Amino acid sequence: MGLNRSMGCTIPCFLIFLAASLLHVHVHSDADSLDEGFISIDCGLPGGSSYLDEKTGFNYTSDDGYINTGENHNISVEYNALELLRSSLNLRSFPNGGRNCYTLSPATTGFKYLVRATFLHGNYDGKERDLVRLPLVFDLYMGLHFWDRISVSSTTTMYVAEAIFVAEVSSISVCLIDIGSGTAFVSSLEMRQMKSSLYPVALQNQSIALQERRSLGASSLVRYPDDPYDRLWWPSNGTSRWLNLSTTSEIKHYLTDEVEVPIRVLQTAVTSPTTSIPLNLSWTVPSAWLAMAPPGYYLNLYYTDFQNQHKREFDIYYNGFLWEANNRPVSPAYLFADYTTATAIVTDASGFYNVCIIATNTSVLPPILSAYEIYYLIQHDDTATDTQDVEAMMNIKSEYQVEKNWMGDPCLPEKYTWIGLTCRSDGVTSRVKTLDMSNSDLQGAISEQFSFLKSLQYLNLSFNNLNGPVPDSLTNLLSLRVLDLSGNHLDGPIPEALCMARSLTLRYDTINGDPCNGKSPHKENTLLITVVAVPVVIMALLACTLTVFCFCRKQDLPGPKSQENCKGHIHTSDSREFTYAELVAITNNFSACIGEGGYGPVFHGQLKDGTQVAVKMHSPTSATGKGMEEFLAEVGSLTTVHHRYLVVLVGYCTDKDHLALIYEYMPNGSLYDNIRGRNAIVQTLGWRDRARIALEAAQGLDYLHTGCVLPIIHRDLKAHNILLGHDMVAKISDFGLSKSYINVAQSHISVTAAGTLGYIDPEYCVSGRLTTSSDVFSFGVVLLEIVTGEPPILPTPVHIVQRVKEKVIMGDIEAIVDRRLHCQYDFSSIWKVVDMALLCTREVSSERPTMSMVVAQLKDALALEESRVSSSTISQVGSNVDLSISWVASGR
Ligand SMILES: *[C@@H]1O[C@H](CO)[C@@H](O)[C@H](O)[C@H]1NC(C)=O
Ligand SMILES: *[C@@H]1O[C@H](CO)[C@@H](O)[C@H](O)[C@H]1NC(C)=O
Ligand SMILES: *[C@@H]1O[C@H](CO)[C@@H](O)[C@H](O)[C@H]1NC(C)=O
Ligand SMILES: *[C@@H]1O[C@H](CO)[C@@H](O)[C@H](O)[C@H]1NC(C)=O
Ligand SMILES: *[C@@H]1O[C@H](CO)[C@@H](O)[C@H](O)[C@H]1NC(C)=O
Ligand SMILES: *[C@@H]1O[C@H](CO)[C@@H](O)[C@H](O)[C@H]1NC(C)=O
Ligand SMILES: *[C@@H]1O[C@H](CO)[C@@H](O)[C@H](O)[C@H]1NC(C)=O
Ligand SMILES: *[C@@H]1O[C@H](CO)[C@@H](O)[C@H](O)[C@H]1NC(C)=O
Repeated sequence: MGLNRSMGCTIPCFLIFLAASLLHVHVHSDADSLDEGFISIDCGLPGGSSYLDEKTGFNYTSDDGYINTGENHNISVEYNALELLRSSLNLRSFPNGGRNCYTLSPATTGFKYLVRATFLHGNYDGKERDLVRLPLVFDLYMGLHFWDRISVSSTTTMYVAEAIFVAEVSSISVCLIDIGSGTAFVSSLEMRQMKSSLYPVALQNQSIALQERRSLGASSLVRYPDDPYDRLWWPSNGTSRWLNLSTTSEIKHYLTDEVEVPIRVLQTAVTSPTTSIPLNLSWTVPSAWLAMAPPGYYLNLYYTDFQNQHKREFDIYYNGFLWEANNRPVSPAYLFADYTTATAIVTDASGFYNVCIIATNTSVLPPILSAYEIYYLIQHDDTATDTQDVEAMMNIKSEYQVEKNWMGDPCLPEKYTWIGLTCRSDGVTSRVKTLDMSNSDLQGAISEQFSFLKSLQYLNLSFNNLNGPVPDSLTNLLSLRVLDLSGNHLDGPIPEALCMARSLTLRYDTINGDPCNGKSPHKENTLLITVVAVPVVIMALLACTLTVFCFCRKQDLPGPKSQENCKGHIHTSDSREFTYAELVAITNNFSACIGEGGYGPVFHGQLKDGTQVAVKMHSPTSATGKGMEEFLAEVGSLTTVHHRYLVVLVGYCTDKDHLALIYEYMPNGSLYDNIRGRNAIVQTLGWRDRARIALEAAQGLDYLHTGCVLPIIHRDLKAHNILLGHDMVAKISDFGLSKSYINVAQSHISVTAAGTLGYIDPEYCVSGRLTTSSDVFSFGVVLLEIVTGEPPILPTPVHIVQRVKEKVIMGDIEAIVDRRLHCQYDFSSIWKVVDMALLCTREVSSERPTMSMVVAQLKDALALEESRVSSSTISQVGSNVDLSISWVASGR
């Protein structure tokens, strides 16, 4: 607890105050001089209208300039007969729920304001519901900070919420939050600028919200102009044991007065009948605050003495503790405004507070009290959005008159982040990270305000009516990775620094010549970035992925009939035939089963020379009749296909009914294991490893497609089939096998045979025509898995392609990224991979890139990430960065 007395003075000091106070100017003047810094809003008043309120003297305006959501309503006509404030006759309600915010501006950063909201239901919706039985409840926030919980249980009561706080930016947002207990509404909003020296407990990081303010002994409400700050001083509702006192004498303020209680309030007071009876004041914490562990109370007691003959002295007890400044009881000054302020944290779990004011044993007169205020403290959350970002977003919003539902803090609370932007929090503040204002009908020049969003990584301003030059200030955005300016009418060159920025993907129109004058090294990237229309693809995908059996006619399957043609490319092969007895020996009688392949179990084995192998058994049932011949044909072709990023076939076994393939052993499991499976539990692959693995797998697949005269189609590419060897080098496995096991007589094939749920090319599914681009589709799905760490269709039935596209369209690229990467990645690198994945997974196969194009893009992506890693963590030594980037070209 802390205690402040306004007057810790001895007599000489008092005289100085007395003299000084004569010079004290009281600002009790007409309305005009104080309207500055005052905003009076009648919520629900028809747009554009205003009126001068006779009761208050204020000019109330419609709220349409301060909010663009909600509905206007008049209260029910039968309530018009009541003596109501005019601002209570109509209101704005928010039936659409969520968070709805008023932006009160202009405010001045660092200035202190009193903000008041009033709520009078007046049966505006004509539903006459039983509010006593089921109150209407919603929350009121000041920006991000909980301010009050409004619980409306009467249609005729005016509820008031009031707070004092310091503006953090040049506007103040007052938000109504739907908590699921009825439609929020508001009747009026008032903002009054205060002297900054008042209520010193209200700071930039702490506000105070009013619980109760009373003028004791008064018979009517005191407010503006008696109170220059328009505080509402309600008369006491009367405690019969207290006696009313009043004076007409002028009462003065000390110059150091930090509350400036109106003279009219101080001219009335209450006293107890005798010195033995205390003035006793108690209150309880509102239940909403108890639940939220209120930070504490701020209590102000105001008194003055009306008589100058007898000693009046009293002690103040707060929750049983004696409160005294300078170890002296209070002796109110004659006709001078005196007060005691105190802060206290909640000491009692019941939330019960008591103040007891009792005369000392030497006092002749009983205690006296003119007024009191009880505030609760609102500690500010320090993770609010960076004020520079808030300011910039507010300015952008007003500059372009944004129609979007942008209200309150742009980033917080997370649930209500502004549509079109995403944020990143560093634990202290949130900063705007991506901003998508494409197709937003923006007119005029590109605002300089964008350059204040210092953490911006992605800015999409495409397809607006922006004109004029691209401001140089955009080059201040050092984190920017994507800037899309296409579809506007911009003139002049683009700042060279933007054109040349290595890690920036820039997109612009070249209709009137190249604004980068050919200086953009990544122009081709811009051509590749395209987001396709979603719905048709998705329908096809769902149709395919959610059907267990895909009724596809398989025909015209180009097969790997070109072994001879491959021989020129390959390293020498020692693939050989093993007998069943040899298999038994190699696998130690099939003792170590390491997995389940599509056609049977997989065993670990060791050759005589110590080479570790994986022995894939093929159950005889799947290889009967013609299947057996195909198996042999496939084996023949596989033994000749060799590539650094394809799993090496060591040999095969065609002994009797025991068919088997012997592959090199890949000790680090599959990509699946490392992203979602068993290995991922221990350690998640970082982005550099993921990008490298993607590139290696792409090279392997590219070789299958183009390394031989006739392409080899993998048909079952998935994360399970990309295996990781020593040093985590990726190799594709299970290629070219699946088609050996199709029963040609059947008119349909199961998805297990044709591919894996989630990875199947929708076009193949529909047409039955299999091409290399079916593999490209599957590879695109694998890329998305690598980025997101999520499975293609589970746990939701929405396919990964759709999930990612939705987020990309929302501009929320980083929301796609696997959280386990902990933001340790180069944004452009991720973006390139996502972009490529979305191209690979296009519905129309002819629009998909070839694997060679994929390889080229993935190389860029890996290079970007490697430059980030080398520039950020010098100490990180990579054991597996040995990459043959030039390899692809050598095979052609
Ligand atoms: C109230 O203020 C508005 C805006 O300042 C002004 O246009 C209007 O005339 C004023 N209305 C009255 C009744 O003074
Ligand atoms: C409210 O009443 C006023 C006149 O009293 C009328 O002009 C206005 O249109 C009404 N508003 C609504 C939303 O009904
Ligand atoms: C609030 O701000 C004041 C000064 O502006 C500072 O002294 C105080 O420590 C801050 N309190 C907290 C809780 O940050
Ligand atoms: C004091 O004034 C209040 C407000 O006018 C009134 O309700 C109350 O009855 C008065 N008390 C006495 C003892 O007269
Ligand atoms: C007086 O006000 C207190 C607190 O505002 C309230 O709890 C009490 O019911 C009121 N008493 C009467 C008689 O209105
Ligand atoms: C003051 O009020 C509280 C709560 O009503 C009560 O517990 C206490 O005894 C009272 N004190 C006096 C001195 O009347
Ligand atoms: C008055 O109270 C003080 C302390 O509260 C005590 O020391 C003193 O003896 C009391 N005087 C009388 C006359 O009761
Ligand atoms: C920018 O937005 C447009 C329209 O929403 C979209 O087509 C385009 O792909 C986006 N640009 C980038 C680079 O994301």
